[in-house]
Amino acid sequence: MKVLVAYASRHGATQGIAERIASTLRGDGLEVDDRPASSIKRLDGYDAFVIGSAAYMFHWLGEALDFVHRNRAALAGKPVWLFSSGPLRTEPLNAKGVDQKVAAIPKEIDGLVAEVRAREHRVFFGAYAADRKPIGLAERFMALMPAAREGLPTGDFRDWPEIEVWAASIAAALHATPVAEAASTRAGDPAR
Ligand SMILES: Cc1cc2nc3c(=O)[nH]c(=O)nc-3n(C[C@H](O)[C@H](O)[C@H](O)COP(=O)(O)O)c2cc1C
Repeated sequence: MKVLVAYASRHGATQGIAERIASTLRGDGLEVDDRPASSIKRLDGYDAFVIGSAAYMFHWLGEALDFVHRNRAALAGKPVWLFSSGPLRTEPLNAKGVDQKVAAIPKEIDGLVAEVRAREHRVFFGAYAADRKPIGLAERFMALMPAAREGLPTGDFRDWPEIEVWAASIAAALHATPVAEAASTRAGDPAR
């Protein structure tokens, strides 16, 4: 069974998560390609997909959204898992007492899950270094106005054991689903 891990990443944190997912799947006996979503032209030959994006200003990056939208028909016929990389704290609750990962769910996720009938969407903690070259309007603004980034914690908050456990659960699901059945077996009400 061949799996494609497609990702959109501005500064590498999400790419690192995608690479760890891919290496865990390989360690569990699957054939895996991991590539930036913007570079993928064809989906032929893949039996399952893991698609992830960094979250910026409560949205997935455009390259990941484009990838899902333009391949929606092919993806909806195969097992798909989605992930987002975002929150920059490891405390479970934010200042308002809301679960950080729930608060960080990008706005389009419900629509994407429905569009490709994804089996699951997960949010993982991300990483941020304040001294990196700014990309995008918000980061350029923060570079000019350092006070604007005061609420943004710096550091690498990625939880590698959590990421590996999730990837292993994907491998287990794929091993339990013969390729011929993969396209037709779906969770009736996809979870987030
Ligand atoms: C300007 C800016 C906006 C951000 N917006 C969000 C957001 O809305 N939700 C979230 O969970 N994380 C947000 N983050 C954190 C990033 O998603 C996190 O740093 C992510 O891991 C970056 O991934 P990348 O290195 O692959 O680009 C933001 C970070 C910056 C610098």
